[in-house]
Amino acid sequence: MTSQKEIIVVPNAAEMARRAAGIFKSKAIERCRTTGLFTVALSGGSTPVAMHRNLASEPFRKSIPWKRTHIFWVDERCVPYTDSASNYGATRKDFLSSVPIPRDNVHPMPGNMASKENGSKEMAVAYEREISRFFRLNSGKLPVFDLIFLGIGTDGHTASLFPEDGALDEQEKFIVQVKGGNPDLYRLTMTFPILNRASCIVFLVSGKRKAPMVKSLLENTGTTLPAGRVEPINGRLVWLLDREAGSLLSSRKK
Ligand code: 6PG
Repeated sequence: MTSQKEIIVVPNAAEMARRAAGIFKSKAIERCRTTGLFTVALSGGSTPVAMHRNLASEPFRKSIPWKRTHIFWVDERCVPYTDSASNYGATRKDFLSSVPIPRDNVHPMPGNMASKENGSKEMAVAYEREISRFFRLNSGKLPVFDLIFLGIGTDGHTASLFPEDGALDEQEKFIVQVKGGNPDLYRLTMTFPILNRASCIVFLVSGKRKAPMVKSLLENTGTTLPAGRVEPINGRLVWLLDREAGSLLSSRKK
């Protein structure tokens, strides 16, 4: 069953960040109430920064059940956490250091342990093991994240799944090492099998430069671009766009 796409277009990037923080908050409250735990995976890049900063401010900070929230990453660059390219490093600065989340609830990808020169397949295996342990998975089973935030590049990539990369066809491993992107680095990334099992996936896209790719992904059926291959098997798929990013969509799509 292919998931229904919900397309939400809001006036500007600030409103998109507020709506995204609202989704984070309501999902966290709902999952903690029903299962006692909330698992979320975050992407890097510039788009989610405003949402992350919202999470560290009211009304979100005090209403999120941080003690039962577990944060993972969709992808990470193989650089030290202090490097400006580190997704974990940026998230720690933007909100993790300002919210009362227990240290053990934060699960950064070990990109800092992989070297810039040759990355490290071992770190991809290590993170896969950490996720399997956390979700108490038997071998071969895949985790179901409550919520995953994704972005897109103007080339149609998402996570660190880049067009034409062999990682797009990975069906076994749920964390792999790739090389590419901007900056062009070794990276660790989730693959489609784990992404598409999430209960809810939210694409956050902002800005005019992404409008052509948003239109292509949402209006051209059969796209083989990475972001177009994200289709939760039993989950909710939300495209949360600001007006500029959604500006080329035909009116019926909005
Ligand atoms: C990464 C991200 C990546 C990002 C897109 C959009 O680590 O690079 O996970 O997939 O979401 O490249 O990046 P911007 O938000 O900076 O446009």
